[in-house]
Amino acid sequence: MKIGVLTSGGDAPAMNAAIRAITRVGIHRKCEVHGIFGGFQGILDPQIHELNSRSVSRILHRGGTFLTTGRSEEFKTEEGLKKAAKILSERGFDALIAIGGDGTMRGLAALSRHWNGKLLGLPGTIDNDLYGTDYTIGFDTAVNNALEALDKIRDTAEAFSRTFLVEVMGRKAGFIAFHVGFATGASAILMPETTTTIEELAEKVLKAKERAKSSVLVVVAEGDELGNADTIGKALSQRIGEKCRVSVLGYIQRGGNPTHSDRILATRLGAYAIECLLSGKDGGMVGEMNGELVLTPFEDTWTKKKSLDEWMMGLLDELSS
Ligand code: F6P
Repeated sequence: MKIGVLTSGGDAPAMNAAIRAITRVGIHRKCEVHGIFGGFQGILDPQIHELNSRSVSRILHRGGTFLTTGRSEEFKTEEGLKKAAKILSERGFDALIAIGGDGTMRGLAALSRHWNGKLLGLPGTIDNDLYGTDYTIGFDTAVNNALEALDKIRDTAEAFSRTFLVEVMGRKAGFIAFHVGFATGASAILMPETTTTIEELAEKVLKAKERAKSSVLVVVAEGDELGNADTIGKALSQRIGEKCRVSVLGYIQRGGNPTHSDRILATRLGAYAIECLLSGKDGGMVGEMNGELVLTPFEDTWTKKKSLDEWMMGLLDELSS
């Protein structure tokens, strides 16, 4: 079986571990594995090279993606999809595995209308916003990166008894904010999934100060409906009569050596993808739910929603009291 592998959209730590597992397990089971560089655009302007076991040496522990990534506008058009299908067929591919977020799963679903080869997705995004897997590849590392930064911010916040708003990634989902917020003892977590008014936030912060808290941390997901941390920080400063400090963590969250959990998850899903292809299963995203390896139809990965733990959300005020 001739298999193409690519990474698309935002890179995520341990994408490399997944590429390594796909390549080595694939070759071991008598498949040909070809790396497609630069995301879906790498099919259209062919950037395709056969991989061997040594091609994926020394990448298991590295962040980023050795295949490089991209967000192709051409691939989203009907012409682009037809061209991609033609190139894949002409080059004799039997299967394509793409690692990425919801945009990648949408891309695979769209390609399936034009190409009759086997298609599989692997969840690779720091946002963790795909249905069909409890965790996405890269999420754990991103949360730990943010955690390390927040612990440092807490030190300086305490030294001055300050209020800090820290913005983490997540344009459409608050999973990073939620996990980081609970793990650092935040007084409030602002996310696209919940609605908090500036008055409610101000009241929370003022109450925390009344209880003589030595510092107040507010974690903000970049896609919160109130705006970004800078905008919210200005509005909050006015309401509470104190200049709030703002820190935007940004892309630092997406890089660095993947955690052991991400490496294991990526390795399991990469190897499982090969097993699925060889046993005739395709047309969906591989994932891990409740410890079980599963295959979820592409469309479900973005139409069904993985919900945040509401019980825990209800405990935030007690935990930060
Ligand atoms: O999807 C992953 C992600 O890092 C989001 O959290 C973030 O909003 C977005 O990508 C940033 O995209 P770009 O890399 O195009 O700036």
